[in-house]
Order: sequence, then C-alpha cells, then structure tokens
Amino acid sequence: MIIAIGSDHAAYTAKDQLVKYLGDLGLQILDQGTYSEDSCDYPDYAAAVSRAVLNGTADRGILICGTGIGMSIAANRYEGVRAALCYTEELAALSRLHNNANVLCMGARTQSLESMKAILRLWLNTEWEGDRHAGRLAKIESNPRGQHAK
Ligand code: RB5
Repeated sequence: MIIAIGSDHAAYTAKDQLVKYLGDLGLQILDQGTYSEDSCDYPDYAAAVSRAVLNGTADRGILICGTGIGMSIAANRYEGVRAALCYTEELAALSRLHNNANVLCMGARTQSLESMKAILRLWLNTEWEGDRHAGRLAKIESNPRGQHAK
C-alpha cells in the first residue's frame, strides 16, 4: 500500500515521526511535506495529498495539522476524497467500515503521538464493509460541489 502524507508546520514533528512509523510497518510513503517548522498553509498540503490519492499515485492519504480540522475541510473540497477527522480508534474503524474514508486527518496539537499511531494502524488495517453503505456513498458522489443548493 502506498500512503501519501502531508502536514503543516504545526504537525511537522508528528508527521516526521509517523513517516518513520509507517516505514517500520513496511509501507511505501509519499511524503508531500511540509519539511520544516516554518509557517505554511495547510490547504497546500491537503491539495497535494488529495491529488495523489485521486490520481492513483497513492492508495490512501494522511493529513495532520494542529487540530486536523483545517485539513479535513480542505481535503473534502476535492471530489472523490472522503476525509475523516479521527480522534479515537473507534472513529478510525468506523470511518473505514462505513464511510470508506480514503484520507485520515488528525491533530498534532490535540492528540498524542501514541494515540495517532494506534489510530493510524487501525485505520490502515480496516476494510470497508460495502453492502448497505455503498448506496450512501454513491449519493455523496452523485452530488458534486456546486449542486447542493438546488
Ligand atoms: C496553524 O496554526 C493551525 O491553524 C492549523 O494547524 C490547523 O489547526 C487548522 O485547522
């Protein structure tokens, strides 16, 4: 599995640790930055990871900022991205089982590194249940941005 990962400055250190952790798990990593603690804008990294997932360069994406909120808002602007902000292992599992989330968002200022590692491991190892959830995801995909108000 190829994993694209990105963060802003607030999560740079955590992202670096998670890149090492994913490597130890034997996964192939596509590190989209940021590469220092210099202030930067999280939508740029949400864009890079979302594009990698949508164009098939990566199988799944991971985005971390201070809270994970900005990253999840930004990534969900990309049609076909199903980004889930997960603070617990239960949410991580459900985001895969029910929502087939293809991008995981977390918050480096609001979650411990150990919690992020546990969430990440479960999220990567949980498969979508399909079945009754397929129609619901199809409804999301059939209602692209710009058509919601009609
Ligand atoms: C950066 O200060 C912070 O706003 C960002 O990392 C994130 O938490 C936004 O949602």
